[in-house]
Amino acid sequence: MTAENENILADLEWTVAAGADEAVGDVPVDRFSVRSKPLAVPVPVPVATIPAASPEPVSDPAPSVVNATTLEELRNMMANFDCALKKTAQNLVFSDGNPSADLMIVGEAPGAEEDKTGLPFVGASGHLLDKMLASIGLDRTSVYISNVVPWRPPLNRKPSEAEVALLAPFIRRHIALAHPKVLLLLGGSSVSALLGIGEGITRARGKWYAYRDGQLEIPAFASFHPAFLLRSPAQKKAAWFDFLTIKRALSE
Ligand code: URA
Repeated sequence: MTAENENILADLEWTVAAGADEAVGDVPVDRFSVRSKPLAVPVPVPVATIPAASPEPVSDPAPSVVNATTLEELRNMMANFDCALKKTAQNLVFSDGNPSADLMIVGEAPGAEEDKTGLPFVGASGHLLDKMLASIGLDRTSVYISNVVPWRPPLNRKPSEAEVALLAPFIRRHIALAHPKVLLLLGGSSVSALLGIGEGITRARGKWYAYRDGQLEIPAFASFHPAFLLRSPAQKKAAWFDFLTIKRALSE
């Protein structure tokens, strides 16, 4: 073997040892001559010409909700509102039941079934809620139901504090327009969003609070969310007492 061939073989062995064990082109490329060409120098792009990732426009519903003077107007206003949650949801979940009912129930946010149908509490939690209501002689003709967040968060995740804060003006206006005699707040999100109580639902439940919005004051009772009761059936007894308290309040 000539000295030149020995060098070529040594190069090849070194290349294979370095991991290049496959030929990717039929035509050989002389990398040394390619490399000897002047390298392209990147030309700096002035920052101003790089398009900025446009942040999602976030309109604040707070100033305009007072323009909704009926539930229908509020529903239309919400249907025309743009936010990230609305983009990933199929339907606005506004309410179900009787808007003139003495009892208004406020949950957290729609799940998959609610998103499909546009109605609150129609999935597994909803079935349990219907049974709990039936146990105190109520149904969807005698209660009004809505949620703090009207669009399903992706993958049923808990709505973030920022999402709740952004959308809270809608449920507050909703409550003002429905003007129930009693509010039943189900779960920690509803309790913290509407009462500003952050102590957790286990401590907050089973008690009366005053829901306040300007001049408006409505007695509000905190209880467990039915989804929690499905996961923790041992708590159903406490929820049963909560519902008896609601029944008593409605008959006074
Ligand atoms: N959980 C809620 O809080 N609301 C619904 O509408 C359904 C499930």
